[in-house]
Amino acid sequence: MVGAISRLIVGMTVRMPKWFVRWVSRRYVAGSSLADAVKVMKRLEKEGACFTVDVLGEEISTMEEAAYFLEEYQRLIDAIIENNLPSNISIKPTAFGLLIDRELAMKNIEQLVQKAADHDMFVRLDMEDHRVTEDTIQVVFDLHAKGITNVGCVLQGRLHRTLDDISRFEKTLGPATDFRICKGIYLEPEEMAYTTRQDIIEATNRCIDSMIASGSYVGIASHDHPVINHSLQALREAGMKPNQEDPRPNAGKSRHLKGPGYEFQMLLGVRGPLRRKLAKDGHMTRVYIPYGEKWYEYSIRRLRENPTIGTQVAKAFLMPWTNRP
Ligand code: FDA
Repeated sequence: MVGAISRLIVGMTVRMPKWFVRWVSRRYVAGSSLADAVKVMKRLEKEGACFTVDVLGEEISTMEEAAYFLEEYQRLIDAIIENNLPSNISIKPTAFGLLIDRELAMKNIEQLVQKAADHDMFVRLDMEDHRVTEDTIQVVFDLHAKGITNVGCVLQGRLHRTLDDISRFEKTLGPATDFRICKGIYLEPEEMAYTTRQDIIEATNRCIDSMIASGSYVGIASHDHPVINHSLQALREAGMKPNQEDPRPNAGKSRHLKGPGYEFQMLLGVRGPLRRKLAKDGHMTRVYIPYGEKWYEYSIRRLRENPTIGTQVAKAFLMPWTNRP
């Protein structure tokens, strides 16, 4: 039933005029330009949040397109520094060519991560679908092996492989590991992923426990109460709390613009009151800010790939008390 409603909403949305989709997505996308993203960050900084910024777009079809992302992200780094914003950047490796030419993509990513390193800025590799899970992890390992350590990736709780991946990171990078953990937005086949809501929540919570136990830095990216509440409990049990040094014996050294071993991360426009409550309680909170010319393609593609997003967006508008920006 929920699936049918979600598909109906998606079917309706893709037929809506572009201005209407723009109006709806305004809440979730900072705008089409870098100036729009800077404006949103300046506004949200007052709420005690820090940021990670994403230039919308992914899976390019020719390597020439990678040049746009490289240039735009370089401009973004400059703007973050110029405006003294508490922000790092999030990139999608397929926008740099990972699915076309791994070596060239690695060169592009390395150039960008090196520029960020020059400004003591962290770079997060977003995790895309299962075709690039291993290559994305490998890019992080390769960069660290070259001594470029201001980089980490995202792992997805829904994938069966993730607990093993956490162990691999622990063995390979030790306390230099810096994760974002989320449920995973891509609907992956059941041979490789949990597919029911409850199974995904439990698997994600197991990953959070394992990351905390491993001493890695943990960015908890969820708006879901069972995940947030579990995380708060797990952090308490590990003796981790705001305004103190990370107490874990195997924790890495504290890093620029990072919390005491953990932080909470949320998407722009989603569950603002929950984020503000966490910030008020002293927890480090980070808002994921997407912007870019490709906002329309991005919104429609996400909806088609995961129709439940359509239901969440519709719910946010029809029942605003469940999800305020
Ligand atoms: P759930 O989907 O149950 O959402 C809980 C509630 O939050 C919903 O009921 C709704 O009210 C609200 N909500 C959540 N998402 C919403 C949305 N898009 N629009 C409107 N309301 C929404 N995934 C991935 O595969 N690779 C990645 O790199 C990332 N990166 C990432 C960064 C950050 C900062 C976040 C917060 C999330 C991601 N994700 C991601 C997405 C993640 O995997 C997941 O799909 C979403 O966060 C939704 O899962 P929740 O845990 O929030 O639960």
